[in-house]
Amino acid sequence: MKFKGRDIIDINDFSREELLYILKIAKKFDPSFVKSDRSNYTIAQGKIAALLFFEPSTRTQQSFSSAAQKIGMGLIGFNDPELTSIHKGESFADTIRVMMAYADVMIIRHPEPGSARKAADVADIPVINAGDGPNSHPTQTILDLYTISKVFNRLDNLKIAFVGDPLHYRTFHGQFSALAKFSGNKFYGVSPKGLEMPKEFRNKDYQDVVIDMKNLDKTLAELKPDIVSAGRIPKEYIKGDAKKYTYSINKDTLAALPKHCVIMHPLPRVDEIDPEIDSSPQAIYFAQARNGLYVREGLLTLVLGRL
Ligand code: CP
Repeated sequence: MKFKGRDIIDINDFSREELLYILKIAKKFDPSFVKSDRSNYTIAQGKIAALLFFEPSTRTQQSFSSAAQKIGMGLIGFNDPELTSIHKGESFADTIRVMMAYADVMIIRHPEPGSARKAADVADIPVINAGDGPNSHPTQTILDLYTISKVFNRLDNLKIAFVGDPLHYRTFHGQFSALAKFSGNKFYGVSPKGLEMPKEFRNKDYQDVVIDMKNLDKTLAELKPDIVSAGRIPKEYIKGDAKKYTYSINKDTLAALPKHCVIMHPLPRVDEIDPEIDSSPQAIYFAQARNGLYVREGLLTLVLGRL
């Protein structure tokens, strides 16, 4: 398995075995599995990560920043392209060419689908896609897999309900693409009419469950999923009034679900998860965000060839 120098652009670029290997490496950085991570402080010493954030982010940007520093890397980059020479008209490709001269790995978030691949075509250092618009966010998918594997100790024979907007939400597309590589998983897209999953993210084990979101609790009670993967209704992609699709997972929803069922969400949330359930052991979205740190430490180490 070769990771040194590799770009991380799309979850479909990785086999099942490669994904499992990344999860195994991530465990080396997770205090749940190792007593102390102090030995990791120098693993990538002398290397520089460039964080190029062309659009807002909290978790991805800050966890990559933390992950890089935890393994001993230095950081450069920007999170407001208007404060760079892009403001003077410098092209995307030239920005990438210049930044790659100063760094050993480049992490890029950009609103345009395909932009990370474009950067990888120009750069001669590894490029990690930190989200290219509605297209792909592979490190989110890998941390989702890591979270599921940590809770269930397996990635197969699971029932997953995608709740919200399977049509537009890249988190669901990534989770489906990755979990479809494992056996026996069943997928349900629980959504209002018009927001069903696109054709390319379906297989024989995928089923649409089109509902009035007021009936969410009753629907989930019937489906009995192992995982409720919830997501924001991305109003930026919805024509018309997105408010009509609003839903809320709350104490009543938890009461309707099997006791072992966990609620995941990549965050940020808006209205779709009531904070009243945050303290439930079934609400694992903040642990999920924390797992992003260990997965990103592992990925940086792998693409730098430091393991
Ligand atoms: N989950 C996620 O990608 O969050 P941010 O947009 O805050 O990075």
